[in-house]
Amino acid sequence: MPILAANWKMYKTIGEAKAWLDAVAGAPGLGQAEVIVFPPLTALAALRPKATRIALGAQDVGWADAGAFTGMVSAPQLRDAGCGFALVAHSERRRYACEDDPAAARKIAALWGAGLTPVYCVGEDAAERASGQGEARLKQQLDTVLDALSGELGGRLLIAYEPLWAIGSGRPATPGEASQAAELIRERVRLCCGQAAAHEVGVLYGGSTSPATVRGFMDEPQIDGLLVGSASLDPRSFLAMLEVMVDA
Ligand code: PGA
Repeated sequence: MPILAANWKMYKTIGEAKAWLDAVAGAPGLGQAEVIVFPPLTALAALRPKATRIALGAQDVGWADAGAFTGMVSAPQLRDAGCGFALVAHSERRRYACEDDPAAARKIAALWGAGLTPVYCVGEDAAERASGQGEARLKQQLDTVLDALSGELGGRLLIAYEPLWAIGSGRPATPGEASQAAELIRERVRLCCGQAAAHEVGVLYGGSTSPATVRGFMDEPQIDGLLVGSASLDPRSFLAMLEVMVDA
């Protein structure tokens, strides 16, 4: 089943989140794709009772299960709030919250420990891309984390390729570029964790996706789904993306 994930970032009040879910909840395409929404934490409780065919996720997670960590929310707490997923090391967390690869590895382990699925975000920035260092950056982000996890998957893992130059820029990667990155991701997983793990890992593309670009990405066999930011906020464009995805 293809995966369509909505990252709302720091958008939507509780009322707006409920209205979005009301608009999306009856869509026939829901049964044919795995749909995951990453709302702000404040909206989780309101969405939970109605999110029957939509999975809920958090945009970040603490690496410890409990303790004196002001401002953090742990994986068991997220599970308690109805989350099945969490984003890890989204580029905006890397940029604004100094998140690094070792912290990402701890967060992934914490999520697996609580039975949640991490969506680990990787991607190079414009300067790395321009200087031909894009692949090296991806390898570093992947290898540091996979090595720290002792080369073993402790649960389901999704990896999102989200090049920084594409996020929020209106200029997505081409399906070919995204597919090449997805291939590299699977290759690193294979080298660190074995063939079965490389087969099982789900690879998403994210960065300025829109209804017009869904089909191109989903035509690439290496890409299992999309992580959508701004185009997910309006239920109409999100539903348009879902329609194309389940049709593809
Ligand atoms: P975008 O964001 O679709 O608005 O580019 C994607 C993301 O940051 O996950």
